[in-house]
Amino acid sequence: MPNALVVFTPSGKRGEFPVGTPLLQCAQKLGVDIDSVCGGRGICGRCKIIVAEGKFAKYGITSLETSLSKLSEPEIKFKTRKVLKPGYRLSCHTLLLGNTVIDVPAESQVHKQIVRKRPEARKIEMDPAIRLYYVDVDPPQLDNPLGDFERLVRALQIQWNLTNLFKIDIRPLAYLQETLRKENWKVTVAIHGKKRIIKIWPGFQNNAYGIAFDIGSTTIAGHLCNLATGEVLATTGIMNPQIRFGEDLMSRVSFVMLNPDGKDDLTNTVRSAINSVSLNLSNQANIDKNNILNLTFVGNPIMHHLLLGIDPSELGGAPFALAVNSGMTLWATELNITEVSEDARAYLLPCIAGHVGADTAAVILSEGPHLQKDISLIVDVGTNAEIVLGNKDRLLVASSPTGPAFEGAQVSCGQRAAAGAIERVRIDKKTLKVKFKVIGCDKWSDQSDFFQQTQSFGITGICGSGIIEALAEMYLAGILLPDGTINGEILALSDNIYQEGRTFSYRLYSGEPNIYISQNDVRAIQLAKAALYAGTRLLMDKMGVETVDKIILAGAFGSNIDPKYAMILGMIPDCEIKCVSSAGNAAGTGARIALLNENARDEIEQTVSRIEKIETATEPLFQKHFIDAMTIPHKLAPMPNLESLVELPSQVYSPSNQKVRRKSRKHQLKLSTQ
Ligand code: FES
Repeated sequence: MPNALVVFTPSGKRGEFPVGTPLLQCAQKLGVDIDSVCGGRGICGRCKIIVAEGKFAKYGITSLETSLSKLSEPEIKFKTRKVLKPGYRLSCHTLLLGNTVIDVPAESQVHKQIVRKRPEARKIEMDPAIRLYYVDVDPPQLDNPLGDFERLVRALQIQWNLTNLFKIDIRPLAYLQETLRKENWKVTVAIHGKKRIIKIWPGFQNNAYGIAFDIGSTTIAGHLCNLATGEVLATTGIMNPQIRFGEDLMSRVSFVMLNPDGKDDLTNTVRSAINSVSLNLSNQANIDKNNILNLTFVGNPIMHHLLLGIDPSELGGAPFALAVNSGMTLWATELNITEVSEDARAYLLPCIAGHVGADTAAVILSEGPHLQKDISLIVDVGTNAEIVLGNKDRLLVASSPTGPAFEGAQVSCGQRAAAGAIERVRIDKKTLKVKFKVIGCDKWSDQSDFFQQTQSFGITGICGSGIIEALAEMYLAGILLPDGTINGEILALSDNIYQEGRTFSYRLYSGEPNIYISQNDVRAIQLAKAALYAGTRLLMDKMGVETVDKIILAGAFGSNIDPKYAMILGMIPDCEIKCVSSAGNAAGTGARIALLNENARDEIEQTVSRIEKIETATEPLFQKHFIDAMTIPHKLAPMPNLESLVELPSQVYSPSNQKVRRKSRKHQLKLSTQ
């Protein structure tokens, strides 16, 4: 039999094979990455390829459609069902007849890469912990005593070259014999971790699904993914119903400490919320919940422990001892998660320290600072700020007690980000007049139909990103002095500034309700931003660096905040603005990476084991950094990048009282008229 040359792109792998060899076989011999569940039986449709037609000087061949066999029966069936697009062939049923160049599209690659919306973010490579294999098992023989399970393993070894030790659990073993006989000894098995059979279906089964969960103290979010393609089929989130036991984490820990059944109440509540999210996701995507086979979980240490049914009391105080910090794999049924397959496996990412959880581990997995030469600073701002600093050589983490001010709590008119909340603020430096935008409306408040468009939900308060912008704009306009005082000297220059007792406030909106920033609000934000900056600065000291190469703002708050304003306020160190980005829901993405790539689980466990944890509370330098960072943007730190971006108010530094004061606006006006 003569040979023909086949070249697979994009891998460039090539080889000569006897004419008449199926392309899938050629690919497998050459180690080309082509997917298959049915093992070349023309059932799964995963092995699609495209023939590249034309002259290829590089390979010295002319590749034509006629270099391949005609359409086969299974291909015609797939074409009629519109599963096979024009130009596509099934490589298992296409024979090599002459020299040819074959393109393997991304959708047919097992280890395809999922491109994320943010181009700078790491790509997700598909390599899920669970894969499906269709096999023909030999029926039993009187003269051969081999058990059904052993014959199934032998079939997997012969037909799929799966030579690892196979384990099977009691549950699939219980229905193994019945399943094998249902479809004439043809079954599909789901294998977890390349060695454990977790589920068996009679006949052919093409789809397995997984859910990546992000268990936050406020919201519980789930992303339902196809484990073969990585596609997110549905996403949903609900408020964490544990809120009824306490708004913040520490009040939930207190509830556990004060109530004998408290831990069980909280555990049952989070588990039943996870069940509702699962049910909602399978309904949304219209899939059978029995085919959801893998779950991953990320969350802060308290949520992590409560999900596992562990009493979190130890996490309520120093030394914040975790019951367990390793990554864990268990059955979903052990967590009472019932709205998925009974055979589903669950994986919890590792926690880093007593107050730096699996959610931060997931953020690291998503952003990959441990893979890069550049020094990344990642800040995830919530009630506590989790701060990660480092690169491939060294990674440090700390948690800094920012309090809930950035989330709108402890601020007079603060509210969560919802329709009607002020999220953008601009103040005219000459007139000191303010305009703003609210969530739910694209218009600025000084545009004609703004009030008409916001009528249905009203103007209800100010959310975290609005507070940051309001304070930064007040500072740029001279309304707020670097020490955080609202400048009463310019009371006469603006109707928006008004006196309340011994301090002053700045009104953003007059109406029902009035929305304003009080002196106390400024103090709450100053304390929060100083804690964040001091934590960051402490890590930079430990790392021995004065600057960072990039800053990533993670979490819901981070995705709404404008990096420029975060820098003006001094929440983050000075950095080229183009190197500051928002990572959105990086914890959820990390959970998705762990769902879709089994090696990522080892990767994050190893990374977490070498992370250095810095305890801000016991570091003497933290206090000093904190005090310096109370100044806006900062008492001492140079801000060259920020200064090239915005015109900062001129400052007067008085060494005698060690205070930085903004030149008073009155003083400036006087100078300008002289
Ligand atoms: Fe399943 Fe080709 S390998 S259709």
